[in-house]
Amino acid sequence: MARKVVVANDHAGLELKRELLPSLAEWGWQVEDLGCQGAESVDYPDFALAVAGRVAQGEEVGLLLCGTGIGMSIAANKVAGVRAALCADTYSAWAARAHNDANVLCLGGRVIGPELAREILRAFLNTDFEGGRHQRRLDKIARAEEASPGRR
Ligand code: RB5
Repeated sequence: MARKVVVANDHAGLELKRELLPSLAEWGWQVEDLGCQGAESVDYPDFALAVAGRVAQGEEVGLLLCGTGIGMSIAANKVAGVRAALCADTYSAWAARAHNDANVLCLGGRVIGPELAREILRAFLNTDFEGGRHQRRLDKIARAEEASPGRR
């Protein structure tokens, strides 16, 4: 079965998403596209939280695109179990998976071009979590999330 990426964007991430979708298909990934599909202004948290919710429920990986990727990453990281990484270089994309076991990649459509974005996405999707000492660190984050006063 094809591995799946759940994708969403706001108006500022639409063009970059359209640039990247063919690559995901070419690399054999199934894509579930939660929008938006138009140029009208929308609110990025609606899309970030939709993807984050799916990832928290067990979908393998999410991809979020907005103008900078910052708003998407802030919003997605509010959802327990989500580790969203904003990346603008390939080393960070590799490390986000290998060290941080990131399950959502955030990209800024107004910050990076399509070719760099493609390489960042490729690095992210092709890298496995290394575990070991990195798992201990993620466990500390998970415990902090669990103990957060904001959690019911
Ligand atoms: C939309 O103008 C812009 O604020 C949004 O795409 C994103 O960059 C927020 O972080």
